[in-house]
Amino acid sequence: MEARRYAVAADHPDASQAGAEILAQGGNAVDAAVATSFALAVVRPESCGLGGGGFMLIHRPGAAPVALDYREQAPAGTQIDLYRDANGKLDPTRIQRGGLSVGIPGTVCGLLHAFDHYGSGRITRAQVLAPAMRLANRPLAVDGHLAESISDFIDACAKQPELQRRHRDLYASLVDENGKARTLVDRSDIAITLEAISDHGPDGFYKGPVAKSILRTIKEDGGVLTAADLASYRVREVRPIERTCFDHAILAMPPPSSGGAVIIEAMNVLQAIGLDKLRAAHAIESGAVTEAPSGVNARFGDYSHYLIEALKPAFADRANLLGDACPAVAADVARMIDPARGRVIANQIDVDHAAPWTRYNDGAMTGDDGGTSHLSVVDADGMAVACTESVNLEFGSRMLVPDTGIILNDTMDDFALDTTKPNAFGLRQSERNIVRAGSRPLSSMSPTIVLKDGDVRLVVGASGGPRIITSTLQVMLNVIVSDERVDNAVAVPRLHHQWLPDEVRVQPGFSHRLRRSLEHRGHVIESRKDIGHVQAIERLADGTLRAACDPGKGGRPAVE
Ligand code: DON
Repeated sequence: MEARRYAVAADHPDASQAGAEILAQGGNAVDAAVATSFALAVVRPESCGLGGGGFMLIHRPGAAPVALDYREQAPAGTQIDLYRDANGKLDPTRIQRGGLSVGIPGTVCGLLHAFDHYGSGRITRAQVLAPAMRLANRPLAVDGHLAESISDFIDACAKQPELQRRHRDLYASLVDENGKARTLVDRSDIAITLEAISDHGPDGFYKGPVAKSILRTIKEDGGVLTAADLASYRVREVRPIERTCFDHAILAMPPPSSGGAVIIEAMNVLQAIGLDKLRAAHAIESGAVTEAPSGVNARFGDYSHYLIEALKPAFADRANLLGDACPAVAADVARMIDPARGRVIANQIDVDHAAPWTRYNDGAMTGDDGGTSHLSVVDADGMAVACTESVNLEFGSRMLVPDTGIILNDTMDDFALDTTKPNAFGLRQSERNIVRAGSRPLSSMSPTIVLKDGDVRLVVGASGGPRIITSTLQVMLNVIVSDERVDNAVAVPRLHHQWLPDEVRVQPGFSHRLRRSLEHRGHVIESRKDIGHVQAIERLADGTLRAACDPGKGGRPAVE
């Protein structure tokens, strides 16, 4: 979809529309992103919302970029022993759902901070909340993505009948008397919370009746989050990671996001392989040409092979070197994004053979898509926002706070409970990401902005657990290395490798010929329906905007 003035790409059409409405009223990209996110809190209850957290990256023409970390934080009373079963063994189910899986929600604090500090000042708080309020006051039509998420919840309850009782409020709101997913969901309770936020700002959520209901719900399910945890939650305002790759300035999210560091490490490896070689290999693989130009050594399958071989060390480093940005952790981003490291890794790549995963095991090592949403905005002045928010797994902790419409996150599961075992996304992690009171868990959310000569070229990000990183990277490469239009760049099938498990996931539509070429080099290939859901906007040199929502989640851009 093309536009001259502004564009909003969210993973639900009504949310994109909410942002466009605020832009039409004279708001800037931040106002629009805030309105879009509040709208998503109503219409994507499976993915994000007031009970979750997120990251927002802001590009301001002529001023320094800003990164906001409003990720959930472990309550002060967090102790690893809380997650042991009656026999003293660490029990992953205790951190995955229910009261002990809830981190202090950051979304409301983050959105209002963004609005107050970086909004245009021309839009009132009531105005920015108005589209969400309107959506809350009409029944929510269940679309394909929400229906699938409800059906996963029904299946989980069928397997473990006690879940239906434990999460009865959420169950009743999503499932009818016959045990079938509702086609219309009543989200009107969330209007009460939105009104409290409109009237009292952050205090409408972190203090007062809404906070009381949140605390009661968590306590009844065995959680330890307190009133002091809620009242003391703060946004962290940090400098984005800024690096030049392939002649473009990349603005990416620092820890506790792992996205920026992994994307830039992988890009450094690919850059060391060489732009001409990559472009030629991509052109052959996409069918645009049959052979490389003379003097360039590239064959069919090389592009995907290089990509996989760049992802392995970057994800291994994610596991070993990253955690929260707090002093207790000392995440080592500098080591990961050093171009010299990229060159060393690139030199070791054998174009005919997959590297064994053990090559990237430093010895330091001791689910599914649904719970995340990404939105991209560019306004008429060239200001841009990339924002990714999450409740972690579908419907987060599965706890719906009565009379508030708030679904609480289960983001504590993004910490490592046990460094010898993978988490719900199959990710392994080190002591740097162990459950720790007051810390924020490592995340794959990767809101990213790419600039060319100081102007926005691409705003991009995704949902999909660790596949957020690989899908965001592939769309970036498609646009800035291979000069594809953003809608094609988002729509083509993608691959995913996260070091461990040592296998390549590919989407339907990935050609048999390419599969065979990769298998021949020793890669193990598995199929997977989705490799992330990307929402992106590109800006051409003449100012034209092109917005694209991933066909897999049902979003539609709103533009003018
Ligand atoms: O922050 C993270 O890495 C996870 N909480 C993201 C979870 C996710 O993307 C689920 N699916 N869309």
